[in-house]
Amino acid sequence: MTPGGDPGSMAGMVDPASPPCASDLQALDDALRLLAGAGVDLRDYRRDALLRRARQRAAAAGHADLGAYVQALGGAPGELERLASALLLHVTGFFRDRPVFEALRTTVLPSLARGAARTLRCWSIGVATGEEAWSIAALLEEARPGRWDVLATDRDPASLAAAAAAAYPGDALDAAPAWAREAALEPGALRAAALPLRAALRARVRFARHDLLGPRLAPAEAVLASFDLVLCRNVIVYLDDRMRALALERALAALEPGGALVLGAAESPPPSAAVEPWPGLPATLRIFRRRTA
Ligand SMILES: C[S@@+](CC[C@H](N)C(=O)[O-])C[C@H]1O[C@@H](n2cnc3c(N)ncnc32)[C@H](O)[C@@H]1O
Repeated sequence: MTPGGDPGSMAGMVDPASPPCASDLQALDDALRLLAGAGVDLRDYRRDALLRRARQRAAAAGHADLGAYVQALGGAPGELERLASALLLHVTGFFRDRPVFEALRTTVLPSLARGAARTLRCWSIGVATGEEAWSIAALLEEARPGRWDVLATDRDPASLAAAAAAAYPGDALDAAPAWAREAALEPGALRAAALPLRAALRARVRFARHDLLGPRLAPAEAVLASFDLVLCRNVIVYLDDRMRALALERALAALEPGGALVLGAAESPPPSAAVEPWPGLPATLRIFRRRTA
């Protein structure tokens, strides 16, 4: 396999599952320095998760060990960007973790809609290729037709471009339940190659580049403490404790008292955080309410 190619036979290639060794950790640090020099600073992310994915990328690029891959990094066109993408992991999906979206639809959004007469505002942090933003937009339109907006941000410009284009395959919602399809898709639209997302959603979702851990606390488009709902799902899971606390502090600073914070299934707020599990919902859903006091 040529460097830059996709994984085929892994014989003689990096084994992503082998235990960490000092030379691989050193190679990973070298790669993280190169990435930081190129504007993608992942040096605060947990080494175990990064190492696994760096090894996967090295194997996919046809290298026998991580050290050799990192040595070749500088001279391989586009490889630094491919490594950054692999490390940031952009996996997502429409109505991902369906019970979470069900609870938002049946419990949280109706409660937020009752509590505020003005436009409901949502910030989707780490939106990847956008499916999360379009999913929550569909439910907001259902709960509050025409009186909501979504700001969707990510640190990765390529993902954001895909998110804003919203060019998803026509079958992307085939496995979703009827309520999700009805909320997201243009009524009566014929089956087509591209997913017929409701036109009413497009006007109210904005995309902006923002690094939750970067120098700007919040995107220029955001006003602190002005969001009713903040989704920060599967973004902080790879951070070390200090950076996770910083990320949550920033996400919470953007949230109205009484507003909802939604984290990923493997993510929790620090015990001291100013949030409590959303009343009446199982804690496993990771939906929290910002305390009012
Ligand atoms: C696994 S995806 C999660 C997508 C979506 N939230 C979901 O749960 O389906 C993680 C996303 O977080 C983004 N991300 C990671 N660190 C970030 C940061 N510091 N600021 C903004 N986005 C970040 C990545 O670029 C990636 O698109």
